[in-house]
Amino acid sequence: MTEHIPRDFIDQLLNRVDIVDLIDSRITLRKKTGNNFFACCPFHNEKNPSFSVSQVKQFYYCFGCGAHGNAIDFLIEYDRLNFPEAIETLAKQIGMEVPRQTNFRSPEKVAAQQSLYDLLDQVAKFYQNQLRQHKDAERAVEYLKHRGVSGVIAKDFGIGLAPQGWDHVLQAFEKSKLQLFEAGMLIKKDEGGFYDRFRDRIMFPIHDRRGRIIGFGGRIIDVGEPKYLNSPETPIFQKGHELYGLYQALQANRQLTRIIVVEGYMDVIALFQNQITYAVATLGTATSANHLERLFRHTSEIIFCFDGDTAGRTAAWRALQVTLPLMRDGIQVRFMFLPEGEDPDSLVRKEGKEHFEQRMLNASTISDFFFQTIATQTDMSSTDGRARYVKLATDLLKQIPEGIFQQMMLAELAKRARIDIEQLKPRSPTATQTTQQKPAPSLKARPPSPLRVVMTLLIQQPSLVELITTPIPLLDLNGYDLLVQLIEKAKQNPKVTTGGLLEHWRDQPDGKLLAKLAQWEHMIPEAGVQHEFIGALNNLSKLAHGNAIENLLAKAAQIGLSPEEKQSLSELITSKK
Ligand code: GTP
Ligand code: MN
Repeated sequence: MTEHIPRDFIDQLLNRVDIVDLIDSRITLRKKTGNNFFACCPFHNEKNPSFSVSQVKQFYYCFGCGAHGNAIDFLIEYDRLNFPEAIETLAKQIGMEVPRQTNFRSPEKVAAQQSLYDLLDQVAKFYQNQLRQHKDAERAVEYLKHRGVSGVIAKDFGIGLAPQGWDHVLQAFEKSKLQLFEAGMLIKKDEGGFYDRFRDRIMFPIHDRRGRIIGFGGRIIDVGEPKYLNSPETPIFQKGHELYGLYQALQANRQLTRIIVVEGYMDVIALFQNQITYAVATLGTATSANHLERLFRHTSEIIFCFDGDTAGRTAAWRALQVTLPLMRDGIQVRFMFLPEGEDPDSLVRKEGKEHFEQRMLNASTISDFFFQTIATQTDMSSTDGRARYVKLATDLLKQIPEGIFQQMMLAELAKRARIDIEQLKPRSPTATQTTQQKPAPSLKARPPSPLRVVMTLLIQQPSLVELITTPIPLLDLNGYDLLVQLIEKAKQNPKVTTGGLLEHWRDQPDGKLLAKLAQWEHMIPEAGVQHEFIGALNNLSKLAHGNAIENLLAKAAQIGLSPEEKQSLSELITSKK
């Protein structure tokens, strides 16, 4: 059973550590404006500092790559620690001892999340044991040997065996079957009961960046359909976010100068076995912007590896389109195409690390691949064709963030289309506003709602909670529960900072929204903050008041009101200002 660190202790810890000291001991911070310290971001490659650390908020944020968090997050990301290790490190720094409780005393929700990770960890061990012990193991081991997987690599990647049969996992973890189902390991029978999802397969555990097992891929032993089976989406596993091998790559390298993105589990494994310890694979999905954002946090160079056939080229073009909006200055992307009939697994085994790395160095730059592909889509010998070429290219190049790379691409376009670069210029002022890009965050588009103002100011300046003296009115509004929780947490810990408050939403969807509000530049001058806060609270009250009247009136029209309801309606109406 995992030991649980008491919530109170984490609150105390975050009250006492200073994020500026912590970060400054690892990267050099420069004092700049107001309360913020700046540095070049340690999570992406850049020349001008866009990483800011706020002492008041106890929160860091990078304007370049969006990395953000409190002192615990920084240790998790920078020192690559898991959560308990990060707590341990912080505690040691200020001479506190980490108390432990066992899991069952922890809040239910945390316990539930924790146990899915724990459970999958145990299931992975179970599969690994089966690969040693089960009567089917010989066939599986033979298969892995035949594919050239070494015992060491099998151990590093935690490869296991789901034996033939309907209920091995179900039997072994009978008591946890509901969680097993939630974690995607069981399938529900129509007539009731469950059976194992993975049967008679070689099992590859999928780790998140921190090393927790979040799902599995299972390969059929030898031939059969489907060849691979992946865990479904679960509360802890989102395919569009995760990359197979990233955890191992981070473990194997202090710095990742580059990352190669391949297609299959076996490709990653073969590359690692041949000392190319910086390979990752998407999990049977196309590479998403989210995948790439994750990768660019750890490296400034990505090499996409594809089959040399038409399908491979099409997939590469799709990857290029996803990449363009992320092409900040200073990052490099290459496209590598393999000879017919080879995949990275077969090729690296055949020719070894050096040759394979040479292929990477020779791979097409994003610029070459871009212009070559566009050229195949148009006829460059006619004026019409060249005009079409320019149109196609500029539409895509507009998506690149403004900067040197974009300018170089436009210059290259002018050269190739034999036109004057000035002719391309009128379009560039709108360079970043294309239809293809994500809509601007609604934060900027509309005037913020009173709810958003209250939440933003509160997360940025938790001491404002002292101004809330009367209970805030009930309101049936999206996000309202979150405000109620926020107020409650801020009241519980008068010394709490932004970073400390956010800690309560670790790994929860609402945490993302709150983190966004935490770094939102609201432009309210410091002297006006209290006034604005009270104003927004009053607006919320009015909204609640109006809502309550509306609800009662609607009910009156439909089914009528009880005497108590009539009474409160008349009170509400007469109290209306
Ligand atoms: P082998 O070398 O034959 O073991 O496979 P591979 O790693 O070379 O994979 P392949 O190139 O055939 O496929 C690439 C990736 O696509 C795999 O690693 C899986 O993630 C995914 N994939 C392949 N086949 C299937 C399938 O039948 N179903 C699902 N869901 N995914 C698959
Ligand atoms: Mn293969």
